[in-house]
Amino acid sequence: MVGYAFMGAAHSQAWRTVNRVFDLPLHVRMTAVCGRDEASVAAAAERLGWDEHTTDWRSLVSRADIDLIDVCTPGDSHAEIAIAALAAGKHVLCEKPLANTIAEAREMAAAAVRAEANGVRSMCGFNYRRVPAVTLMRRMVADGRIGEIRHIRAAYLQDWITDPQFPLVWRLQKDKAGSGALGDIGAHIIDLTQFVTGQHITGVTALTETFVKERPLPQASSGLSAAAGDGNGGTPATGPVTVDDAALFLARLNGGAIATYEATRFATGRKNGLRVEINGSRGSVAFDFERMNELEFYDATEPSDEQGFTRILVTEPDHPYLSAWWPPGHGIGYEHAFTHQARDLVEAIAAGSGPTPSFADALQVQLVLDAVIRSAERGSGWTDVEPILAEVAA
Ligand SMILES: NC(=O)c1ccc[n+]([C@@H]2O[C@H](COP(=O)([O-])OP(=O)(O)OC[C@H]3O[C@@H](n4cnc5c(N)ncnc54)[C@H](O)[C@@H]3O)[C@@H](O)[C@H]2O)c1
Repeated sequence: MVGYAFMGAAHSQAWRTVNRVFDLPLHVRMTAVCGRDEASVAAAAERLGWDEHTTDWRSLVSRADIDLIDVCTPGDSHAEIAIAALAAGKHVLCEKPLANTIAEAREMAAAAVRAEANGVRSMCGFNYRRVPAVTLMRRMVADGRIGEIRHIRAAYLQDWITDPQFPLVWRLQKDKAGSGALGDIGAHIIDLTQFVTGQHITGVTALTETFVKERPLPQASSGLSAAAGDGNGGTPATGPVTVDDAALFLARLNGGAIATYEATRFATGRKNGLRVEINGSRGSVAFDFERMNELEFYDATEPSDEQGFTRILVTEPDHPYLSAWWPPGHGIGYEHAFTHQARDLVEAIAAGSGPTPSFADALQVQLVLDAVIRSAERGSGWTDVEPILAEVAA
């Protein structure tokens, strides 16, 4: 695994757990973790349960006793690490968004197709797909329970940078993160809604905003928390924010649905508010991550005097992934979706099949992000999503 902070901890938890919860055909060994600072990565290896540590990710890629590389670094290093790992015959799990640019994402998808010919698998870490209520939502939509889909309403709301004194961490720098709220959390609701509906976004009209354009430089930069540096003379040195704080867009999907998306880090009071509602000709489904063990379902085929939104408690053994966990009514949490991700990847590798979301799937999300940025730059003009080239999609 490369990178050991927020996602590194979540993925480590999944790798530690997956063989103990699920009955898998392969046994996961947590061989080595990589970071840039010797002392910190040594401590992380100890804390997270990795046998060894290194400060050189290339040494992992060339080791014969390593079969899979898990990329948990910021987007500016995804392409280099993932492409080198695939070329060396290692399966790859790469965090989202797949890359920082379309060019990188296309190269990664092409590398994944070349590797696949040799039985080498790759997957992008859109973990919210594997929250059981979300997977159930997809199953119900596919089974026709809400009929023809008309509306998709998706929002991913956070508030961790509303304070203008919050420092300029890597997520606020385009060269490190690619984009802001759009690629970080907007990517999740793009993937989630496309996964649930089976439809793809074909075009968008978008606007983005950067509310705070200059921020103090950080003392030490980590994921979602950091301390502002004290510049000489007590005045913190500042730097420009080069990404969006918020991104909103309307979209059309290839199956006829129309959609609204909102991704923001300025929704004061909303910490990790991921909400999706889908309205169809026969009913509706709605999910709110703050109540992640529940799914709301409205069945418009019921007698009119009995209709109403039903709260499905998604904790039954018949629900996706849940037969391996606790008795009905004993909910699961944020980390479980990562264990489900690890399970599905290991099972796909053992079965010799392609895990999803593939790098091609993640490239398609990246193309939507790119269309949003292009639309916003052109005063919100309608912008088609570029198609994935056929050789990559295959
Ligand atoms: N799936 C999700 O829900 C989710 C949530 C948060 C972040 N992410 C994604 O995960 C990735 C990492 O985000 P994070 O929140 O864990 O960030 P983070 O800042 O918490 O951790 C990044 C880690 O990468 C290491 N690192 C940075 N550059 C490196 C390099 N060149 N070589 C080796 N190590 C390097 C850092 O030392 C740190 O350990 C990003 O792509 C982000 O978009 C996904």
